[in-house]
Amino acid sequence: MNAEFSNELISQHGSPLFAYDLDAVAARARTLIAGLPEGSRLYYSFKANPLPAIARELRAHGVRAEVTSVGEMVAAKNAGFEDNIVFGGPGKSEAMIAKVLAAGVRHFSCESFTDAARLSKMAVQAGVEITAMLRVNPQQAPDARLAMSGVESQFGFDEALLLADGAAERLRLPNFTMNGVHVYFGTQVASVEALAKNTRCALETAERVSRALGFECTVVNAGGGFPWPYASDAAGSDLAGLREALDAEWRASPLHGKAQLCFESGRYLCASSGTLLTTVLDVKRAGTKTYVVLDTGIHHLGGMSGLGRIPRASLTLLNLTSQRDGELVMDVVGPLCSPLDSLARGQKMAPVEVGDVLAVTNVGAYGLTASLLGFLSHETPAEVAYRGAEVVEAWRLPCWHASLRDG
Ligand SMILES: Cc1ncc(COP(=O)(O)O)c(C=O)c1O
Repeated sequence: MNAEFSNELISQHGSPLFAYDLDAVAARARTLIAGLPEGSRLYYSFKANPLPAIARELRAHGVRAEVTSVGEMVAAKNAGFEDNIVFGGPGKSEAMIAKVLAAGVRHFSCESFTDAARLSKMAVQAGVEITAMLRVNPQQAPDARLAMSGVESQFGFDEALLLADGAAERLRLPNFTMNGVHVYFGTQVASVEALAKNTRCALETAERVSRALGFECTVVNAGGGFPWPYASDAAGSDLAGLREALDAEWRASPLHGKAQLCFESGRYLCASSGTLLTTVLDVKRAGTKTYVVLDTGIHHLGGMSGLGRIPRASLTLLNLTSQRDGELVMDVVGPLCSPLDSLARGQKMAPVEVGDVLAVTNVGAYGLTASLLGFLSHETPAEVAYRGAEVVEAWRLPCWHASLRDG
């Protein structure tokens, strides 16, 4: 993003500000779809970024919606998704299920025997039939930087429990039809080989589980975890050869030609679209250290700290105001009254001055809504979606208390 456009956005909507390039969303959607086996379905994981313009852009490319809360379901509905929504996630309450059923959602990813019983109960109450993929935690170890399956985790059915005697009976429930298997290994899967291996494992798991439970597996959601750099201007991942590698696994599976193959992605689809613009408020010395104080911090980029990943020296801060000579080592901190409000420690960067506008790229996924928004009650930054040099829409996510007194 050039300095002139970013200054224009800041003068209109203030600093800090998230700006999302819809052309980047479209480009990533096209690349990923082209990298999947012919006929497979791609779901957008709203947890990465529920921004309306991003969701609409992805829907226009034929991507479906994967949601895990009532808020994400409403965001999907508002973006025009209808019967192409799947609702998942651990810990679905009766109230949540009632709301999503009332909104017309009929496809679920089911996490446990209790979840299955609850989904069935609520479907009976609503007088509707639902289908459910069983989310399985396979017994094989995954290839993912943040593993969520193939290791002990709170996600999905432990595969051994589904293969044990009595499991099929526990899942024979009214208004509830098992139709598939869902395996999500984790995020930031680093290579095409690892993605292919995980897909093979998901297909094998689907076969084992559906055979043991005696249901027809018509859907396999093989997850994804397609990678993209976070908050750094490192080159995006090379998915060359993905289609050939996934195709080979898919064609080798006995489920090929019988089941619908699906994938899901959040990060890859929207990370590259987002840039956080921030202004330097102060540059301070303390002993041997230099601190750059920004108007943004972990309340806007909390995904990093919240996930235990304060990036320290890996953050990229592009100075849009001035490229100065030299290199200093600085700690880049935010405006919150906590020493944890640190975006980078020991960052090597050219000198900055108060008033400089800096840009953090590749923060379109797990940026604002993955952050500590309410902490210290700062106003949330505006979020602007643009195409070329045209602003398409702008929003501000509320984070104040709203009284419940008047209902
Ligand atoms: C079940 C499930 N699906 C999809 C995703 C999205 O992952 P990513 O953003 O890496 O594509 C996640 C992320 O945690 C997840 O838990």
